[in-house]
Formats: sequence, C-alpha cells, structure tokens
Amino acid sequence: MTVLEKFTTPIGVALDRFIAAKQGEFPFATGELSQLLRDIALASKIINREINRAGLSGIEGSIGADNVQGERQQMLDVIADYRFTRALVIGGQTCGIVSEEVEDIIDTKNNDAKYFVTIDPLDGSSNIDVNVSVGTIFSIYRRKSEIGTPPTQKDYLQKGSEQVAAGYILYGSSTMLVFTTGFGVNGFTYEPSLGEYFLSHPDMKIKEDGSIYSVNEGGYHSFPQGVKDYIDSCKQRELSARYIGSLVADFHRNLLKGGMYMYPSTEKYQNGKLRLLYECNSLAFIIEQAGGMASNGEKRILDIKPEEKHQRTPLYIGSKKMVEEVLSYLKKEQLA
Ligand code: AHG
Ligand code: MN
Ligand code: MN
Repeated sequence: MTVLEKFTTPIGVALDRFIAAKQGEFPFATGELSQLLRDIALASKIINREINRAGLSGIEGSIGADNVQGERQQMLDVIADYRFTRALVIGGQTCGIVSEEVEDIIDTKNNDAKYFVTIDPLDGSSNIDVNVSVGTIFSIYRRKSEIGTPPTQKDYLQKGSEQVAAGYILYGSSTMLVFTTGFGVNGFTYEPSLGEYFLSHPDMKIKEDGSIYSVNEGGYHSFPQGVKDYIDSCKQRELSARYIGSLVADFHRNLLKGGMYMYPSTEKYQNGKLRLLYECNSLAFIIEQAGGMASNGEKRILDIKPEEKHQRTPLYIGSKKMVEEVLSYLKKEQLA
C-alpha cells in the first residue's frame, strides 16, 4: 500500500449515516427513533470520557449508599444515570424511563413522545475501580399509554417481544455500541479522535454451538441440580470457563466467539440476580436477532409478562445449542 493509499482508505460508515440509510428498517420510520438512538449514543460518549479518566478525576468508588436493588451504588452509577436521563429528557423522544438506579418511573415531561426507555446506565460498575470493562444496556418500547398524557406502568409492563429496539455499549479495550431494531444486529466501534461511532461489525451472528460457559461458580452449591450437572458436563468436555463479572462484557465475548452466559437462581438470589426490564430483555432481543437463544430455564425471556419494574429473572443466554442443552438438564432434574 502506498502512503497516499494508506491515508485515503475509507474509514467506514458512521453511525449517523447508517441510521439515516436504514431509516426504513426503523419501526414507524418517522425519524423519532433514530433521534432517540443518537441521543443515547451522545450520552455514551460522555460516559466513555468519564470512565476513561475515572482514576484521575476522583470519581471511583462508592457513594456510600445503596440503590433500589439494595446494592452498593458507585459514583459512576449515579453519573451515568444522570447523563442518560438528561440526554433522553432533552432529546424529547422519550416519555418515561425505568432506570436501575431509580425506584420510581422517571417522567421526562415529554408527554407527546412516543417511546419509553428502560436502562441499566452502568452495568458491572463494581469493576470500575479495577479497570475492567463495564457497559450500558437499554431497551426501547413504543408507549402503551395515550400520547399527550404522562407515562404509566402500562408502558414498561410490556413483554420483551414488544421491544422496538435494544442495545448495549461496552466500554472495553475499545468502546462499542451494538444494537438491533429487529432487522439483525450491528456493532459500531468508537473512534475517540473523531468522536464518532463507525460500523465495524455488520450483521452480527452468534455460532450455533459454542465452547465458552460463563457463570459465577461461587454460587455452585446453591444452583439448581440441572445447572450443576450441566457445569460438570462442561468440565468433562474441557470447555472454557470465562467470567468477567460485567454482564455486557461477558455477553459480548460470547456473542463474538460462541458461548453461553448463565445466572441461575441461588440461595441469595431466589429469582436470579439480573433484571428483566433492563438487562435480560435487551440482551435477549439482541441474541435472538443474532441467531441465539435466551431463556429463564422454563420459557423464552421475551415471552415473560413483567409484573414489576425491577423484577429479576434467572438467565441462560447465548449459542442456541448450549442453551438448549442446559434446558434439557433442567428438565431432567424436574422429571427425576
Ligand atoms: P450492575 O453493576 O448493573 O448492578 O450489574 C451487575 C451484574 C452483572 O453485570 C454481572 O454479570 C453480575 O451482576 C455479576 O454478579 P456476581 O458478582 O454475583 O457474579
Ligand atoms: Mn447490570
Ligand atoms: Mn448497573
């Protein structure tokens, strides 16, 4: 390659251009959903900046209080929640938000907006202080309450199968935005010097079978017998165990390499630890669009009718064959 060629090769498709070109693939293509995605992308760039200099700016560590989940809130949890909420309020396309960090529904006062967002502003936040990848997870629904009125619980008590879009941002060795609007999954990598996301992973698909299993085995003794038996079989086959402890990062690796993430029920977390509305549903929509599968051990995640905004569910998600296999172990246990 000549020097001139090197400096004139195309950089790729920028997120904005991709969204504009795919407008037709956006449900109810009137431009509002595209704008909403851009608002999320903008907030993610701010969070990316804060995460990258966390050690220098003194925003590591906990704020000394617990969130609605009874879990220790990190300073960056609060900052991320603030930034995403602000972007969605000012962006104007979102009538309400359910955030992991806030007990009640957030009324954005955008009563004429058509969309409702559920969000885990910072996933894996306990990993911040040790310089390990973290993420953001979101889902977008069309509101069910009447336009022109404040949002209600009808807007978020929708099955995951009704999502119009879902995505995540991974703040890792590079920062990526991965999302679906129901027409496949596309991944964008952030170019910090240009301040833009560029399409780097078009039409992502997960391998039908994988060789990585991801689970916090510290809970092994209180896992359902079927899960214990499945993990034993993974060991017999010498599959690879990989667990970062940031759902987004574990999910992303498995999506690219083929594998399955599990968070079963445990003694401490009778319904699993992960949240249906802003962790499991979002990733379930993505994995299905990528050809994989997501279950709570009994049924498809996307078919669960939510009853409560912060409800938890067990999760088995990833390559189809691996999920089917753990389900067959769980079934065997029930029949025994
Ligand atoms: P969050 O930081 O949003 O509370 O999520 C933490 C979640 C998830 O990211 C991760 O996979 C899981 O908790 C890890 O839990 P364990 O420490 O129990 O393995
Ligand atoms: Mn989380
Ligand atoms: Mn979180």
